[in-house]
Amino acid sequence: MADFTSKISGVVFKNPIIVGSATPTWDSKRIKRCITGGAAGAIAKSLFSDSAAIGRKYPRPRFKLFNYREYPNYPKELPDSFTLRSLEECSSFGYEEYMKDINNAKDLVRDDGVVIASLSGSTKEEWKTMCEMVNETKADWVELNNSCPFAADMGIKIGAGAVGLTKEFVHTCSNVLKKPFSVKLTPQTSDSIYLAKMVEAEGASAVNLSARLSGIMLDIETASPIGWGSIGGYGGPYLLGYGLKTVFQIAKEIKIPIIGGLGVWKWQDIVSYIMAGASIVQTVTGVMLKGFDITGKWVKCIEAWMDAKGYKNIGDIKGLALENIKKTSEVEREYPGIQFAINRDLCNKCGVCKKSCMYEAISITKVGAVINDELCDRCGMCYEVCPERAVRINRT
Ligand SMILES: Cc1cc2nc3c(=O)[nH]c(=O)nc-3n(C[C@H](O)[C@H](O)[C@H](O)COP(=O)(O)O)c2cc1C
Repeated sequence: MADFTSKISGVVFKNPIIVGSATPTWDSKRIKRCITGGAAGAIAKSLFSDSAAIGRKYPRPRFKLFNYREYPNYPKELPDSFTLRSLEECSSFGYEEYMKDINNAKDLVRDDGVVIASLSGSTKEEWKTMCEMVNETKADWVELNNSCPFAADMGIKIGAGAVGLTKEFVHTCSNVLKKPFSVKLTPQTSDSIYLAKMVEAEGASAVNLSARLSGIMLDIETASPIGWGSIGGYGGPYLLGYGLKTVFQIAKEIKIPIIGGLGVWKWQDIVSYIMAGASIVQTVTGVMLKGFDITGKWVKCIEAWMDAKGYKNIGDIKGLALENIKKTSEVEREYPGIQFAINRDLCNKCGVCKKSCMYEAISITKVGAVINDELCDRCGMCYEVCPERAVRINRT
């Protein structure tokens, strides 16, 4: 059976899946539940500093799912792409209560999993105080959360609204922390590579690249935001490709381990993140909608797949895709010998391909769709949209 363990800065992860900081890691009881569900570790819900205490209370209800239960076979089948919006900034605990609960979590979890405290300050002094306090706890690891997608909208210098302060904050914490630490970065910046390199230079044990975006949805009947009236965290499996891109681009630039994880919805997504260069993969939305035990199920699926493929350990697949990912400038742009054709036995003349052909190369005839080879651009859209899979790509 494939070996799943990894060791980062002396901390052992029994498999590559952890539960990210959010509702499923709300308190020690739930952190324990994440571990019994199969995760190797859990990042506790973030503690915001006192000046950001507004984030310790949230609107109710605070979750909104878009394109989820509208899926035709829901709930037997779940959609692969949907949006989860939420406004739930940080833990509702104050400093003392948070540290106590981290200790409770470690007492409950013991050596079965890694307990990670998560901190977010908005001044150097606050970061320092929280790091000093967390040093005295039983936390195995500390995450410096510099990624909150919407704290800036509350007028607080945390996360996406304070990218310019990340270096100063990380430097302050690095000098105080006595535990391994990761830094969670926002993707809402134009220079993730600079930030990741800075985090490495400041002595972090890992960088976490799984933060969400912020967004809003409008009800056009009332011209108002759907939900609680403001922007909120904006995520879901549709962001998988964005998360993978960030991970592979940064994996090429730094040596410290990467925690990846935006948009994980199935076990194959975890494998994709590892192949893109992540050492550990976190999930939140997956646990919130599939339950605490999903991580254990995914571990079993990955084990079976790795055994079938002959992979012996996570190192065998880590970064495996990196050499196959080209720069866009390196992509083959000549296309000799490519032709599109219709399989008459499958075409039902529905006309979906015709509507999507911007080159007006398709006509619907008595015998079905016909592609005019001279007008055809070979763009591939008819192949993608055909509900009967009647379009063939011929390569000669
Ligand atoms: C309801 C909710 C609350 C969250 N709270 C936090 C938090 O307190 N701290 C944090 O670092 N990230 C927080 N996140 C972000 C998640 O840790 C994670 O990075 C993000 O959801 C992307 O992962 P996913 O696609 O698996 O959901 C939260 C996410 C959600 C959905």
